[in-house]
Amino acid sequence: MTQVLLGLLALSGLTSVLAVLLEVADSYLADYGECTIRINDGDKELQVQGGNKLLGTLMDAGIFIPSACGGRGSCGLCKLRVLDGGGPILPTETPYMNAAELQDQVRLSCQVKVRNDLAIRIPPELFLIRAYQTRVAELRDLTHQIREVRLHLEDPPEITFKPGQYIQLVVPEYEGSPEPVYRAYSVASAASRPGEIKLVITRVPNGLATTYVHHYLKERDPVTINGPYGDFYLRQSDREMVLIGTGSGLAPLLSILYQMADEGISRKVTLYFGVKEKRDLFYQDEIQALAERLPNFRYVPVLSEPAPEDQWQGETGYVTGVMVRQVSDGSRVEAYLCGNPLMIDAAVKLLKQVGVTDERIFHDKFA
Ligand SMILES: Cc1cc2nc3c(=O)[nH]c(=O)nc-3n(C[C@H](O)[C@H](O)[C@H](O)COP(=O)(O)OP(=O)(O)OC[C@H]3O[C@@H](n4cnc5c(N)ncnc54)[C@H](O)[C@@H]3O)c2cc1C
Ligand code: FES
Repeated sequence: MTQVLLGLLALSGLTSVLAVLLEVADSYLADYGECTIRINDGDKELQVQGGNKLLGTLMDAGIFIPSACGGRGSCGLCKLRVLDGGGPILPTETPYMNAAELQDQVRLSCQVKVRNDLAIRIPPELFLIRAYQTRVAELRDLTHQIREVRLHLEDPPEITFKPGQYIQLVVPEYEGSPEPVYRAYSVASAASRPGEIKLVITRVPNGLATTYVHHYLKERDPVTINGPYGDFYLRQSDREMVLIGTGSGLAPLLSILYQMADEGISRKVTLYFGVKEKRDLFYQDEIQALAERLPNFRYVPVLSEPAPEDQWQGETGYVTGVMVRQVSDGSRVEAYLCGNPLMIDAAVKLLKQVGVTDERIFHDKFA
């Protein structure tokens, strides 16, 4: 049995090495020349140099496809239909596809290489997504591991987004990354202030983008972003709202709360904010100011592991557990969840148990 397992491991290792070698050889030896990308039955046509991934090729042409993992094939967001010329679907793509998508020739654009002419289909609303040149107006440490980045928009000078949506931040080549990378960050600020956006960025050890933001980015630096992206935004209804955020997952929820205050939306809303200890709480003054503007707002901070010096009198444990104890009848509840993917999976399960149906649960996983 052990020998069979070792044999299988060796075989899979060999396959991976061969795949990498083929990819490297391909990038050096193959010349795909100029290729035509026909978009939406010829509404738009691009002449491009072949050899790069479709996602990056489109981005170079100013067409931005949603992506959160920077093209590493791990977020599944960069889907579009490749009707002709895309070659067979790859094993890296199939885990993200359901049967209908496979039937519709949906592909992960970060996995498809432009080797020949392509015919693709892109939802028209994606043509509205564009790049913005901004400048860092202020950097502020909100906690020991979370930094607020306030960006002043320069060109164009304003951005229109739905509160809850995210942008992609382009991290230039720096000593921690030999090539530019881009990552998704939710907008934390109000859509009513379109000339600037605030991002709330948690430091990830050895993370390419977050190391840059926390250790290299300076005030007055230029920053390129593109967006807005995503379908995490406030739905129109009069249902009671439950918002659950962990860590920087508070960002889009705050933007939604600003929208409610600005537009006079007086729905009953409870914000559950989960962090480890008291020093991880942030934006407490902002939340207090929102509470004064929102007549039916309740705020429940939850510490999972309060430190003894916190002398914490509030809720403790998992934020999801606290939420489900307080939501007894989910039949009129709409839920918005953001942050840690494990928290979101747990919350979805619990919300369903108390009667909140799938179509009333919205989430953005920070993965
Ligand atoms: C829709 C969306 C919105 C997002 N909004 C925000 C936001 O507002 N604020 C924010 O801080 N992040 C947000 N993220 C996460 C963000 O896009 C990056 O994934 C994150 O900042 C890590 O990027 P990095 O380049 O520093 O790390 P990478 O270089 O991509 O990763 C380095 C290593 O760390 C691991 N890793 C990645 N992320 C985490 C993590 N969170 N915790 C622990 N390990 C990790 C990776 O698996 C990898 O092994 C969002 C993600 C999505 C999908
Ligand atoms: S960009 Fe994330 S899977 Fe393609």
